[in-house]
Amino acid sequence: MAFKDLYALSTEGSTWSVKQDFDTVFNWDYDDGRAGMMGLYAKGKEMQWDAVTRIDWSQELDEDNPQGMPEESLPIHMADCYKRMSEKEKGVVRRNFQAWQISQFMQGEQGALICAAKIVTQVPDADSKFYASTQTIDEARHVEAYRSLLKKFKVAYPMTKPLKELIDQTLRDSRWDMTYLGMQVVIEGLALAAFGTIRDNAQNQLCAQVNAYVMQDESRHVAFGRLALRDFYPQLTQKERDEREEFLLEASYLMRDRFDAVELWQHLDLPIEECATAMYESGFMEKFRNSLFARIVPIVKDIGLWGDYIRKGYEEMGVIGYAQTDVQALQDEDDFIAKRFDARRAEVQRVIDRAQAAE
Ligand SMILES: [Fe+2]
Ligand SMILES: [Fe+2]
Repeated sequence: MAFKDLYALSTEGSTWSVKQDFDTVFNWDYDDGRAGMMGLYAKGKEMQWDAVTRIDWSQELDEDNPQGMPEESLPIHMADCYKRMSEKEKGVVRRNFQAWQISQFMQGEQGALICAAKIVTQVPDADSKFYASTQTIDEARHVEAYRSLLKKFKVAYPMTKPLKELIDQTLRDSRWDMTYLGMQVVIEGLALAAFGTIRDNAQNQLCAQVNAYVMQDESRHVAFGRLALRDFYPQLTQKERDEREEFLLEASYLMRDRFDAVELWQHLDLPIEECATAMYESGFMEKFRNSLFARIVPIVKDIGLWGDYIRKGYEEMGVIGYAQTDVQALQDEDDFIAKRFDARRAEVQRVIDRAQAAE
């Protein structure tokens, strides 16, 4: 079956074009580069993996709950329209909601792939070009992994409008740091929060594992954004920093308020108002928003976009407290969890080998 036949909704054509207006920059300085950046580049090369071999794709998914998620994770599980459904109908809603989410991951990863490649061509520093090249292959692998997963769901969804808007804004901007800000800080932060809810709650090991491995790479990408921007923002004027803060705050509101799955509920013929209310009140969304800002706010502070404008904005959103989050601890945990999945698979393989030898 061709992938395009999996789409439950129209993708409005088979491609999407975003106009670009920026200079491609060469750099003749082949010195060693910044130690931190080159260290990250070394790590990026060393930690490459193959989605085909690191993951056992023979694992099956349950049709009615492919990821094996707890019922509370379905944001409309308390809606009357859902409670009235038969078990079979509930299974259809679960499968489609999960496929819709994984589809956003896959589509967003293509956005990341394109942004990483754009950074290679646009950023002036040679060491950043080196690092971004490793990120480019990472992002291609992420698209590949989510695509393989979605094929097992047997249904997929196009990129939602708010995500498209965010990526479009990021790509259209001709200033190189805005690609970082939009992708490495905002969208990667959003991704880490979303992947984490599945990694930490899915009973299906294949789904949990894919997200754990992708997160292991993503936390490196966030570190890249921090390194590059932390050096750059102190050099800007307050007015220039204010413009960035405005962009960040607007993006924060967009992520908090507009990722609402409306097109999915419509496609499933569900009453929108009931779904929207249930989604608003569901504790799971609240948790998701919390982990979203735990990933973003401390980075924003760290890179020096911490003027009155943004602090006031985050205070109004009630998320200023996340500035104290220990980002390094989160990253170490992402790495540790991914390694635990490797260890689990190695141990299962060891037992199988031993049993075969005993036979
Ligand atoms: Fe990625
Ligand atoms: Fe990434």
